[in-house]
Amino acid sequence: MYESRPENMHPFWMPFTANRDFKSTPRLLVSAQGMHYRDVDGNRILDGTAGLWCVPLGHAQPRLVKAVQDMVAQLDFAPTFQMGHPSAFELAERLMSYTNHRFGQVFYTNSGSEAVDTALKMALAYHRARGDGTRTRLIGRERGYHGVGFGGMSVGGIANNRKTFGSLLPGVDHLPHTHNLEKNAFTRGEPEYGAHLADELERLVALHDASTIAAVIVEPLAGSSGVLVPPKGYLKRLRELCTKHGILLIFDEVITGFGRLATPFAFDYFDVEPDLVTMAKGLTNGVVPMGAVFSKQHIYDAFMQGPAGIELFHGYTYSGHPLACAAALASLDIFEEQKVLEHARGLTEYWADAVHSLKGLPHVIDLRNLGLIAGIELAPIPGKPGARAFDAFKRAFADGILIRVTGDIIALSPPLVLEKSHIDELFGKLAQILKNLD
Ligand SMILES: Cc1ncc(COP(=O)(O)O)c(C=O)c1O
Repeated sequence: MYESRPENMHPFWMPFTANRDFKSTPRLLVSAQGMHYRDVDGNRILDGTAGLWCVPLGHAQPRLVKAVQDMVAQLDFAPTFQMGHPSAFELAERLMSYTNHRFGQVFYTNSGSEAVDTALKMALAYHRARGDGTRTRLIGRERGYHGVGFGGMSVGGIANNRKTFGSLLPGVDHLPHTHNLEKNAFTRGEPEYGAHLADELERLVALHDASTIAAVIVEPLAGSSGVLVPPKGYLKRLRELCTKHGILLIFDEVITGFGRLATPFAFDYFDVEPDLVTMAKGLTNGVVPMGAVFSKQHIYDAFMQGPAGIELFHGYTYSGHPLACAAALASLDIFEEQKVLEHARGLTEYWADAVHSLKGLPHVIDLRNLGLIAGIELAPIPGKPGARAFDAFKRAFADGILIRVTGDIIALSPPLVLEKSHIDELFGKLAQILKNLD
């Protein structure tokens, strides 16, 4: 049995982690069931973040566990280059129905980062396939997070994720972010102010010329940089401008896909149709890594016009892995049969009330919510950005609730199958923690 002494822990170089701090006071999870984790000391921890936003159906769903177990015994691996297996095709069909056939195809990856790089490459290759090969520029947004591949990092707009890695992709520009505490602090749902920020795309078009721009990529709701809810009308405006200028619009739905806003996708919630959509996380309930890209039929069609042979020189060994397909198919069944979206929808007002009940507590400078997401922004300790929220995270873990922090913002995104009692526990404990923070 593994013994978690700090001196044993150095070989694992942990991702997005303060390694030295963690290894001096580790937090080790050993099992999970429903809404809870259990740590190495046997403590139950209420999952306020669905792992990393990726477990909408709760942990150890028996049906999902069985689907994966059955598949590993039946077909542990099968290539999808120049051959295939039935579940990959069945899942593609199911996913397209899940979008009401507003998208034509799905391309499988293994993560959100790979989905983003795939979508960016598809956008570039799409224009080229249509004889529009000058469209090579990619537009992201400040404070955007699109994973850690070179493409996603380049269009992303979180300074710490970019600045230590030297030169990134050339030919990338960024829209301004939409976060504005002065105008929008403590808004319930979508803020009123800021739709005009989409018009900044006109400025970039004037600067670079539309004929050089391939795609705009945004998260419909920015998660990793601290739950930035889009202003009313912003995404529709962005869609109009992209259409006007022949630019593809990519929604990165890695966290918003699969019910986070109590609709299948954020594009359903905002009633805006992008050309490409990236997803991961909730696609398999986090059980087996899988990402994907949805493409509009016209994008796929553009690739099917050329000479016979491979149409897109891109793919991953594990694209459409049988275990991931089994998990995704079982997840879709559970979403449908257990009416998970309806359940989530029934909780969004209760959730919003709980989020905004924190108003007036020490250090709280903003509260934001949409669907089953919350952002709680704290005033930073002068000279120590992020320290106050990180302290809250550690205290929360010790008190039996899992929260997530980014800078001085606490982000909550629980499994969608939670009950009101879980919301009460989460916010009750959080309120006490906020009262006791330095
Ligand atoms: C919007 C968005 N895009 C991409 C990613 C990257 O996904 P992954 O960590 O699976 O590579 C994330 C991860 O949180 C994300 O939130």
